[in-house]
Amino acid sequence: MRAQHIRAIVYGVGEMGRITTRLLVDKGVRIVGAIGNRNNIGRDLGEVAGLGRSLGVPIDNDAERVLSSSAADVVLMSFCSDMETMFPAACRCIENGMNVVSITDESFYPWGLFSRRASELDRLARRHGVTVTGTGIQDLIWLNLVSTLSAVCHKIDSVSGEASANIDEFGPAAATSAGLGLTPAAFETRFAETRQPPTPFGVALQGLVADLGLTLSGSRQRVVPILAARDTPSVALQRVIREGEVIGTSHVDEVETVEGPLFSGAFHVKVYEPGETDHCRWQIEGFPNATVVIPAMPGKIGTCTIAVNRVPDVINAAPGFVPAQELPRIKYRPYPLHAYVRAGISCEATG
Ligand SMILES: NC(=O)c1ccc[n+]([C@@H]2O[C@H](COP(=O)([O-])OP(=O)(O)OC[C@H]3O[C@@H](n4cnc5c(N)ncnc54)[C@H](OP(=O)(O)O)[C@@H]3O)[C@@H](O)[C@H]2O)c1
Repeated sequence: MRAQHIRAIVYGVGEMGRITTRLLVDKGVRIVGAIGNRNNIGRDLGEVAGLGRSLGVPIDNDAERVLSSSAADVVLMSFCSDMETMFPAACRCIENGMNVVSITDESFYPWGLFSRRASELDRLARRHGVTVTGTGIQDLIWLNLVSTLSAVCHKIDSVSGEASANIDEFGPAAATSAGLGLTPAAFETRFAETRQPPTPFGVALQGLVADLGLTLSGSRQRVVPILAARDTPSVALQRVIREGEVIGTSHVDEVETVEGPLFSGAFHVKVYEPGETDHCRWQIEGFPNATVVIPAMPGKIGTCTIAVNRVPDVINAAPGFVPAQELPRIKYRPYPLHAYVRAGISCEATG
């Protein structure tokens, strides 16, 4: 019997791209291209991803060269958080006939806040017969988990969620944008003067509202500083954050619906103190009430496992920009990943 392989390109070889590479290889996916930016250009992806062996795939920063010269079924995209940055890159992938699985936060549910870009990608993807989706940890904990929990309710008045992430697992850019180490006064000035981008939780709440068949009528967001209770070393900031300085930010979102239920979320992005873990909690008020709590969660790895588990769903999906709530229920996919790609979809056959 002939084996088949999904062929993939990794677009962005940072923390997430490296983990994703290892997971893809482990699930029998053949990686045929790697797109980087400044670091590790010319080096082999296998070596940079820590596989301990070469994949024969040099990291190239000429995206067009990689996309036009490597036939791939899917591109795993993890290099930016906003739709404007993702847009031209996704267009290139689509025009080269490739499906896209992106962990770009704003692409998770772009129909509300970024509907012009979403529609443009949707039209282009339909024309080229491929599918684009946004996924990541929110696919599970901010959408499918709470959406499934809601099935126990006859009536919903409100849905509120809370989650956290350890900023020390991100790079220095994240530390700066979160205002780490600022005094409360400097934080207020900075965040009052700078227009803040939509939060990942806010974007996901809009997806949840759509998934539950409700209609968005308004949304609000604010950023609240979390202050250090004691001197705490930060890897991301590369210094000790003093007691009383900003140790993180809470992104607080509220989404109203025409039908009445209010959705809210607080996402705490902070330097963890000993014993703190990524966690998530959802509370639905209605009849009956329902709560789900995940006390400890592998946020960083989970982002990448979810993206990889989504690969067959995205290859199988109808063409267009298909948000996560329109894909099949997210689930674990055992080895090999290509076993979940429906017959007739372009997978490479090898002897
Ligand atoms: N949806 C989710 O659940 C979720 C979870 C985690 C992260 N994210 C998002 O995923 C993105 C990546 O996260 P990360 O932790 O991997 O960040 P990271 O470690 O900073 O890596 C980002 C990588 O992208 C590369 N890059 C930047 N611009 C590029 C371009 N134009 N073309 C190709 N590569 C480019 C960078 O290369 P250089 O270093 O050479 O510039 C870097 O290697 C972030 O924007 C984050 O918001 C989403």
